[in-house]
Amino acid sequence: MANHKLLLLPGDGIGPEVMAEVKRLIDWLNAQGIAHFETEQGLVGGSAYDAHGVGITDDTMERAKAADAVIFGAVGGPKWDSVPYEARPEAGLLRLRKDLGLFANLRPAVVYPALAGASSLKPELIEGLDIMIVRELTGGVYFGEPKTITDLGNGQKRAIDTQVYDTYEIERIARVAFDLARKRRNKLTSMEKRNVMKSGVLWNEVVTQVHAREYKDVTLEHQLADSGGMNLVKSPKQFDVIVTDNLFGDMLSDIAAMLTGSLGMLPSASLGEIDAKTKKRRSLFEPVHGSAPDIAGKGFANPIAMLASFGMALRYSFEMGALADRLDAAIAAVLAKGLRTADIKSEGATVASTSQMGEAILRELQALYA
Ligand code: IPM
Ligand code: MN
Repeated sequence: MANHKLLLLPGDGIGPEVMAEVKRLIDWLNAQGIAHFETEQGLVGGSAYDAHGVGITDDTMERAKAADAVIFGAVGGPKWDSVPYEARPEAGLLRLRKDLGLFANLRPAVVYPALAGASSLKPELIEGLDIMIVRELTGGVYFGEPKTITDLGNGQKRAIDTQVYDTYEIERIARVAFDLARKRRNKLTSMEKRNVMKSGVLWNEVVTQVHAREYKDVTLEHQLADSGGMNLVKSPKQFDVIVTDNLFGDMLSDIAAMLTGSLGMLPSASLGEIDAKTKKRRSLFEPVHGSAPDIAGKGFANPIAMLASFGMALRYSFEMGALADRLDAAIAAVLAKGLRTADIKSEGATVASTSQMGEAILRELQALYA
């Protein structure tokens, strides 16, 4: 059986707590001979800053490049609010994305049947919801230069962020999104602000061209990102795959996450280009929820987004789709039995700790292999 090298980067806040549940799962998979994962661990974010004064060290970056996949927890927290901008915890994550070339961020928002009541929207609006947000991850305003704050000398300062996209960046993310749509319900919605932004004009033009050239069989529609956000909460089931830029994708995926009941439910996969020679791609898998400093260390964070992110690693990096399906089924089964972490608790439900939830999911998975 192939040996897969994983770099685990638990990070800050609830990151280490939810990562512990992934480790429990990996240990079991290894012990059963279902898979063979070799794991290493490293520091990222505030924990890397405390130890080394940076969000991520060159050494950890090298280990990330050498790994078959990076499994990432979360970074940031009030403790590091005043560290220099270049060394802030988030800089560690952004460097990983940029230096590993992880331009495609897949954020699936799926409503588990048992959780339809946990959403802030009416159950009928979100029952059966299954959408995929494809967020461009290495360009746009996150990385564009200049990015500065200048003192104007008259008591005023000027802040500049730069939104920039080249044709090739839009083409490659559009292809990822069209390919995914083909495997799903064959519909892609592209979101930008072409009514006020030049980058939106180009985005719209390039996605339209890629569609006409290579993906005529897929239904393509364009929405302005603001009304797209409105439609996400008005009638989310109209969407299959959404493709959008880095910043809009950040915002729209938080909205989509809440449709599913909790930010604690949404996994993500960040993928690079497929290497022509090895046919492999760099990849990083992380929950969308962030470090949740307010509940860190208390042991009641929801590990589902982290476990489902590991499931995406099985699916997208290791061709273990069948195992990923079983993991998803185990999560659904545990929820169907009424077990809930605090973020998704409903009346009459049993409230589980992080480790109780992780153990219950593993037990369901074990039953599927019995
Ligand atoms: C996310 C997060 C990050 C982002 C932060 C932590 C830099 O919000 O992955 O959605 O803005 O991309
Ligand atoms: Mn975000």
